[in-house]
Amino acid sequence: MKVQADLLLTDIGELITMAGSPGLRRGEDANELSIIRGGVVASFHGRIVWTGKTRDVFNSVQLVNNSLEIDVAGKVITPGFVDSHTHPLYTGTRQVEFAMRAAGADYEDIAAAGGGILNSVSRTRQASSADLEDTLIKHLTTMLLLGTTTVEVKSGYGLDLETEIRCLETASKLAEYWPQTIARTFLGAHEVPLEYRNRSDEYIKYLIVEVLPKIKSMELADFVDIFCEKGVFTAEQSRRYLQAAKDMGFGVRMHADEFHDTGGASVAVDVGAMSADHLLSISDRNIEKIAGSNTVATLLPGTALFLGKPFPPGRRLLDAGAAVAIATDFNPGSCFCESMPLMINLAVCQCGFTIEEAVTAVTVNGAAALGMDDHKGALVPGFDADMILWDLDDYRGIAYHMAIPDIEDVLIAGQLVSSMFE
Ligand code: NIG
Ligand code: FE
Repeated sequence: MKVQADLLLTDIGELITMAGSPGLRRGEDANELSIIRGGVVASFHGRIVWTGKTRDVFNSVQLVNNSLEIDVAGKVITPGFVDSHTHPLYTGTRQVEFAMRAAGADYEDIAAAGGGILNSVSRTRQASSADLEDTLIKHLTTMLLLGTTTVEVKSGYGLDLETEIRCLETASKLAEYWPQTIARTFLGAHEVPLEYRNRSDEYIKYLIVEVLPKIKSMELADFVDIFCEKGVFTAEQSRRYLQAAKDMGFGVRMHADEFHDTGGASVAVDVGAMSADHLLSISDRNIEKIAGSNTVATLLPGTALFLGKPFPPGRRLLDAGAAVAIATDFNPGSCFCESMPLMINLAVCQCGFTIEEAVTAVTVNGAAALGMDDHKGALVPGFDADMILWDLDDYRGIAYHMAIPDIEDVLIAGQLVSSMFE
């Protein structure tokens, strides 16, 4: 019995399918890309229906009327990237602070003096929904042209009910009509707002009692996140907050151990977080703890690069057996960069990943960090036909070409989308 298809990509030099065990990939599994050489991928109504060798396609696939067939001339196809950690819901850039850092100031000192996140908050509070939508579209488009087909989008530059709702409504609106798949995260606990200065406990209580139930009833977010960091929220506050969010039915995730080891990763594991992110300063003990859990260790090497900090301990996490994802952390303060291809290069050149582990980290493990590993991150029947067509004949070129992506086209749900923006 042949499967029906409306899209057929033929003569693929290397089809990186990522077929394999469902869920998190760790250890040797993270090195297995399940490559089909000299193959074909077929999709129907936006979902993969068949992959295999060219010689078998005639007996396996039936093209329907008006289908599209593309000969990719021996090139590489991978799943689209899953960027599982970004902050694009803001207005106003922070070049002034960037210049201060260039002149020697430290990121944390700028934040402690009332700049940093609170600088973006004051401008985002004044932004209209249209301003927010414009900024979001601009950055999502850049991400798309760089191969990102699924993206997590955090709020967290409002820090009051009205602005946080406006930001999440903007993300929800785009999720309805925009080609990329968007996961929405409420990050109202990104910083202590000025109104609650020195009263962070009261702010956490306000978020738990008043804000989270509202976000839940309005169905504005899929996940809840908190910035657990010295001078922001403590491990104890993070535990209380994320447990409350989880009890309300949210998936939870956490900014953990970015600048200081505050035990954030340990709390993330204890509360069953989907991911603990950053981890530049994670302790050896907590490397072992996260490795023994189902919490994804999400590394954001662009932030270390942008801030001039030591890179996260990728090799040690991988060797301990952690499931590791890589994301951009795109935001106006600590990583103004949308490029997953750059993050792959940094993971390999600065964090000790093999090229294959890096590809796993931006596909299946990124999808797992968002609870989407049953339909994103791999090119196997039933999964979404989100694909990158590379102008490469060897997938290793993805990591090798630093900062310059050799992308020919991006497909989302079986549609060629990147050419729409040219
Ligand atoms: O993930 N660490 C906290 N939040 C962002 C930085 C946000 C900003 O500086 O605006 C991050 O790096
Ligand atoms: Fe972040």
